[in-house]
Amino acid sequence: MDIELLIEEAMKAREMAYAPYSEFRVGAALLDGDGTIYYGCNIENASYGACNCAERTAIFKAVSEGAGDFRAIAIVGGKDKDVTEFCPPCGICRQVMSEFCDADSFQVILYDGTETRIYSLADLLPHAFDSIL
Ligand code: THU
Repeated sequence: MDIELLIEEAMKAREMAYAPYSEFRVGAALLDGDGTIYYGCNIENASYGACNCAERTAIFKAVSEGAGDFRAIAIVGGKDKDVTEFCPPCGICRQVMSEFCDADSFQVILYDGTETRIYSLADLLPHAFDSIL
């Protein structure tokens, strides 16, 4: 897997962010086992509870198109134009990832404009709830 490429794709996805309320723009690039990349951005709403994170946008787009062999997701976020900080996925997105991604092998790739950090889903969501255990 080309980690740098996936980060670049997340940067492209971020260009589509709709974030007029927070002005915090997030992009995600989700890699499927067949090589397809699914793109997501955050999409906000005047009714704040209706906002959707970039990660869930990408995952829901992919699942709705029949994909489900997810290997990695690159996530970039930051205020306005720049990516200057790491944007770890929120708790709801971690839970959604745990529904569709393998805890040990799925990689969550974060980039702050300089440095890259890679976590497994198990690192980010230990002891995940799973009703069919
Ligand atoms: N956001 C994401 O897109 N992903 C995350 O993991 C955390 C937060 C978005 C939601 C909202 O549009 C903005 O960032 C500020 O919270």
